[in-house]
Amino acid sequence: MVDAGLPTYDQTDYGIKLIEEERRRIARELHDGPAQALTNLSMRLDIIKRLLETDSDMAVKEIIRANSRIVTAVNDIRRLIYDLRPIAIDEVGLICAVQELCGKYERDWHIPVRVVTADNVSSDFSPAKQVALYRLVQELLNNIKKHADAREVTVSFVREGHNIHMTVEDDGKGFDPEVIPDGHFGIVGVKERIAYLNGSLDIQSQIGAGSRFAIVVPVYKDGSDGL
Ligand SMILES: Nc1ncnc2c1ncn2[C@@H]1O[C@H](COP(=O)(O)OP(=O)(O)OP(=O)(O)O)[C@@H](O)[C@H]1O
Ligand SMILES: [Mg+2]
Repeated sequence: MVDAGLPTYDQTDYGIKLIEEERRRIARELHDGPAQALTNLSMRLDIIKRLLETDSDMAVKEIIRANSRIVTAVNDIRRLIYDLRPIAIDEVGLICAVQELCGKYERDWHIPVRVVTADNVSSDFSPAKQVALYRLVQELLNNIKKHADAREVTVSFVREGHNIHMTVEDDGKGFDPEVIPDGHFGIVGVKERIAYLNGSLDIQSQIGAGSRFAIVVPVYKDGSDGL
């Protein structure tokens, strides 16, 4: 049979599933974050209106509080927009893109987010796989931001033959990877994506002792060590 370069149904189904999952995640983040904040704000404005007639000092305090909530909501929306923007992976390559992402998170979170890259790691493999790895780092870093309360984060890359080893590590509060509550899909999605890339994932985490996600994916055509 002639390969027309068309995706198989399996690939198409998988692609559609990923898009739907992403839409669900964005919808939930908008609902839980900015939408709830703005609903709350609307109620606060009613209270402020009444306070203006009875207790203007309190009204001023409430306005200051309301303003800081608006700033938080705007920051949440900006973060979502940043996460959603397509990345020009062909131009910059995975490593530079991750360095840029970590630089941004370092500035936003005010903690060190280091990228350690072994000399033999290069970004000369399929752009689609580079984007997939980039999105994995993004989800794991967002989890660190949301859950870990970390003081330091390290993302590292090492090459071994055909494989790229990518590790995302934090020194935060840790969790039990065997117990993921219902309704949380980030790590499930990470596992699925890695399986689709024929890779493997090892999660080491303990309550109070940080978390370490070690991902190995075959990406290099040349099986030498790259040096
Ligand atoms: N780096 C981390 N440090 C501490 N806890 C974590 C970390 N990563 C994940 N967790 C825990 O694992 C749970 C599952 O993570 P997962 O990404 O699947 O869901 P979520 O982030 O809660 O929601 P979402 O579906 O938006 O990703 C989190 O709720 C959190 O309790
Ligand atoms: Mg998550």
